[in-house]
Amino acid sequence: MKDSTVHELFDLLNVFVLKRSDNGTFQPLGSIPEWFLHLFPEALEPDRSCAPEEWSPFLENFLFDANEFWNKNKKGRTFSGPWIEKDSAGREFSLEASAVCLKDGKFFVVENLSKAYEVQLKLLQVGRDNSLYNELLEEEVRKRTAQIQDREEEVALRLVSAAEFRDDETGAHIRRMGAYSAVLAKKLGWSSGEIDNIRIAAPMHDIGKIGIPDSVLLKPGRLTDEEYDVMKQHAEIGGKMLAGSKTRMINMAHDIALYHHEKWDGSGYPSGLPGDEIPLSARVVAVADVYDALVHKRVYKPPLSEVETLGIMKKTKGHHFDPNLIDIFLDSLEDFRKIAAYDGSGKLPIV
Ligand SMILES: [Fe+2]
Ligand SMILES: [Fe+2]
Repeated sequence: MKDSTVHELFDLLNVFVLKRSDNGTFQPLGSIPEWFLHLFPEALEPDRSCAPEEWSPFLENFLFDANEFWNKNKKGRTFSGPWIEKDSAGREFSLEASAVCLKDGKFFVVENLSKAYEVQLKLLQVGRDNSLYNELLEEEVRKRTAQIQDREEEVALRLVSAAEFRDDETGAHIRRMGAYSAVLAKKLGWSSGEIDNIRIAAPMHDIGKIGIPDSVLLKPGRLTDEEYDVMKQHAEIGGKMLAGSKTRMINMAHDIALYHHEKWDGSGYPSGLPGDEIPLSARVVAVADVYDALVHKRVYKPPLSEVETLGIMKKTKGHHFDPNLIDIFLDSLEDFRKIAAYDGSGKLPIV
């Protein structure tokens, strides 16, 4: 290789290379690079150009290790690790020295890491800033999401309580509905976001009752067929109240309000949808609604025992209810019992 090529290569690699002779003295390969002279002008002095131990205390120290390495005569390279030198103007340069042992010679290399080191430092800094920023952002999103969910839940429950004032269904029933539905949704493998959605949306199932006249809604005793038809309209009224939203939770509440009286065999109202044409959220709420109505006292009936309740739920599996959901419900009985015991005072059991 020509000397000029060697010089160009070393220049490009930002290295200053010296060859070590057998008697332990050094000979520069190519000319001494400018950056090196900038740091160690004394290297230009003829008798000192080949005395690395005189350039810097760090190099002097490293030469002990380097000599040990060269004396082993084993092919390879050993590094000093980066260190910093200041020039006369106080500018910092990061350098790294290494001792190289090849078959045909031993070399001493000083590399100017400054450029690569600066880029690396910047990259590291950017990476650190980004991960910190992402963490902060995630935390902020988590906080905001929790706030929005709390707000949605509160608005939903207050809205529902407006309907509740006119009905004999208690606030406790409405709140239990969210908890039962969340239990079933969890067993169905829904995401935590969707579980939260149904927890908030299920209490709105009967919101359409707000549009039913008092004479029907509050009538003690049995309804006539005409009155029952009026009563059934609460599903469509609720559907209209909640239609056309861009929010996933309100859309779910819409499906629930409109379809929670549909039955698996297609004999329900208002649309007579069969099987899985009924949105799953509404099928879930139907199971929770009937279970809760059966085990609690209503003005028109006493509470049923668990045996009677389960008898009815099982009998209507596949007729009224999605059979898969009845299986999941039976599997979740312990949770349902805990929720059913909530009477509106204290904290709703979060299962
Ligand atoms: Fe209803
Ligand atoms: Fe209900």
